[in-house]
Amino acid sequence: MAEYDLLVLNGVAITHNETNEYDIAVKDGKIAKLVRRGEISISQAKKTIDAEGAMVMPGGVDAHVHLDEPPLFGKGSTADNYETGTRSAIAGGTTTVITFAPQNKAEPSLLKCLAATHARADNNCYSDYSFHLICSNAGPLAISEFAALREAGISSLKIYMTYEALQLQDSEVLDVLFEARKQKIVTMIHAENGAIIDWTIKKLEEKELFAPKYHVNSHPPVAEIEATYRAISLSEFIDVPILIVHVSSPSAAKHISDAQKKNLPVYAETCPQYFTLTRKDLDKPGFEGAKCVCSPPPREGVQDHEGIWKGLEDGTFTILSSDHCPFIFDNTETGKSSVITKEYPVGHFKYIPNGCPGVETRLALAMSAKRLTMERFVEVTSTNAAKLYGLYPKKGGLVPGESDADLTIWYPEGMKEYQLNNEMLHHNVDYTPYEGQTIKQWPRYTILRGEVVWDKDNGGITKPKGYGKFLKRDTSSLAGPRNAEEWDVEKF
Ligand SMILES: *[C@@H]1O[C@H](CO)[C@@H](O)[C@H](O)[C@H]1NC(C)=O
Repeated sequence: MAEYDLLVLNGVAITHNETNEYDIAVKDGKIAKLVRRGEISISQAKKTIDAEGAMVMPGGVDAHVHLDEPPLFGKGSTADNYETGTRSAIAGGTTTVITFAPQNKAEPSLLKCLAATHARADNNCYSDYSFHLICSNAGPLAISEFAALREAGISSLKIYMTYEALQLQDSEVLDVLFEARKQKIVTMIHAENGAIIDWTIKKLEEKELFAPKYHVNSHPPVAEIEATYRAISLSEFIDVPILIVHVSSPSAAKHISDAQKKNLPVYAETCPQYFTLTRKDLDKPGFEGAKCVCSPPPREGVQDHEGIWKGLEDGTFTILSSDHCPFIFDNTETGKSSVITKEYPVGHFKYIPNGCPGVETRLALAMSAKRLTMERFVEVTSTNAAKLYGLYPKKGGLVPGESDADLTIWYPEGMKEYQLNNEMLHHNVDYTPYEGQTIKQWPRYTILRGEVVWDKDNGGITKPKGYGKFLKRDTSSLAGPRNAEEWDVEKF
């Protein structure tokens, strides 16, 4: 009887803090052992994969993915469901996604939204998955359910400071943070000032400026910078961990790094669109620019991109997620093109569904940029997301006996470069914002709990949907209040 189910041979095993020429032995879906190359003979395993000197990492963890959500922006509805979205994830080397269970303002209960989201995901997933609850109605029922969410394995929530359909007032943000502190829940915050955005939209409309590119003008950096600082202030007041999602502006990042220097539990996320795209991508003939409409928008150019890389390198950004939020471009019912009307022949920027696909391209784009050390790459694309959201070391690591055998195996050095094209991708979207980008690396194999689920050169997706499992999450191992005592209003 073979002792191991799988051996990954001749690779360079990389974790958030180590790089070694290790062979990896897998048993019962777990990492069993990491040994020096050649120490285990292939006769001891049922199956082997020769990594041929390539990098082998913990599977990617993408903690910001929108799938199968009901319409929020007019008619636009998410192009990917749990099947197509998680299929796209594993083809891009991501073995765990954390998606959103959205609450509609008219629905007072979060638990109901959780149940409905489970029903959409159940038996449909290729990757493992969990949910963040989006809390848009922070009424007494929702707040009273936080404890039950924890029981159900949910240890994070997301709230919005903008979008009429989702926005919470500052007092409601405090209600959420106050209870989140008690229940050890991490709160993700979409930090843009809704009033500044609405006011700026009116100014653009007065001048009859409607083309997609004006989306950038309508979300000026100040809206993000102000809201980021306010979110940090509210979190400091309650002394509770927050994560600022999809930071696009280096000036907002400065507020975050200042907070971190004061030891506040303030974490931050950025996404590949903020080091690859610029406002020029929204300024294309006709309606083309709508493909890159997301919020916050891509910023000016090289200087902003450099600021984002600096934040990734120096630790200001805890995680690099995709913010995969897919809409079909050429679909006049539910897609980006649904906003083209007789009145607005190039659409009206304010109605364009906000979001871009990217769950499949996240790792390859960040890898191809060759900016991060490989350990830092693993940390921001996998380990830190697992730690922050209560999945480490089951996910995000290669800890023998503890970690699931989730691996991303790259190509040996010198893979032939190519231009990315949407036909190569596995999402249900008719474009990628990264069409034509030079790709220098791509995951060759993706392994989920010891099973090969993606083999790029031999059939691509190799296991049916339904293999992906829901992950109950624990509390964050990265984030906690600074002060363990109960919050006391008399201290202020
Ligand atoms: C890497 O981090 C893990 C904990 O996440 C720790 O157990 C291990 O000793 C560290 N390795 C090195 C080389 O620092």
